[in-house]
Amino acid sequence: MPRPSPLRRLSRLVGLPVALTSVACVPHAPRPVDHLLPAGVTVIGHRGARALAPENTMAGFALAADSWGLPFELDVHLSSDGVPVVVHDETLDRTTDGVGFVDETPVATLRGLDAGSHFSAAFAGEPLPLLRDVLRRFGPAVVIDVELKNPRDPATVPTLAGAVVDELEAAGVVDRVLVTSFNPHLLAAVRARNPAIARGQLTGTFRGADLNPLEKLSLRHLWLNGKAVPDVLAVEADRLSRGYVRRMKRRGYRILAWTVNDPDEMRRLVEYGVDGLITDRPDIALQVVGQESP
Ligand code: G3P
Ligand code: CA
Repeated sequence: MPRPSPLRRLSRLVGLPVALTSVACVPHAPRPVDHLLPAGVTVIGHRGARALAPENTMAGFALAADSWGLPFELDVHLSSDGVPVVVHDETLDRTTDGVGFVDETPVATLRGLDAGSHFSAAFAGEPLPLLRDVLRRFGPAVVIDVELKNPRDPATVPTLAGAVVDELEAAGVVDRVLVTSFNPHLLAAVRARNPAIARGQLTGTFRGADLNPLEKLSLRHLWLNGKAVPDVLAVEADRLSRGYVRRMKRRGYRILAWTVNDPDEMRRLVEYGVDGLITDRPDIALQVVGQESP
């Protein structure tokens, strides 16, 4: 068996105390979010219904919300002129006919992009949506999980958080959304701007991420969350165990699992007691949790 690197040995050595201290130091003050996640297992469409329609488009959101009456998740970046837009990557290349960084492109250009053709010709011309348009159209009907993507420039964390909170307030959906992020500083900035908005901390395995072991460790635990104080923990499915779900629910958190598309994995997580499944296949998840698709 290969000998672990010095960095990995150090990480293992400090890992346990750090993990224990981190959980102990965090102000565990999750608030009830039953208005967003009622009792039972909530099915949440990932980026709309990513396996069935182009991700982060009105067509995908309509599939989740209009066809099944389901909450959905979306991703937000800022345009170069500071407007929250709904797109997953920091660049436009994968999901649109544009190129370059979202944060270097003005909203007027972003609005004209085709975000549907990459999925299939049937969705050609599907626009890249603005957050405000999604909130106005779907906010009154279903809960929306608004994920704030990490900005390339950390100095713009308050700008992104502030712009999104402004739009939530303007659309009148402050009590209809869950704001999530991998970056606890973004959640802390949302909390500073409007503490009433429910917050969800995303955590993952960070497999393949360009992070050193200590950075991964810090993101897997709650030690950076002193100021974020999440109400919900949205955890990559591979990281969830029955014990973790039990412990964190005992502390008052609601637990969401992402991104779960396999029915056996869905059943395992439901059995662990998760409160929600974030999935590219809401149709399958509805069957698993015993709610028939209309
Ligand atoms: O909601 C969790 C999930 O969306 C986070 O990962 O990369 O799909 O945004 P990603
Ligand atoms: Ca996301």
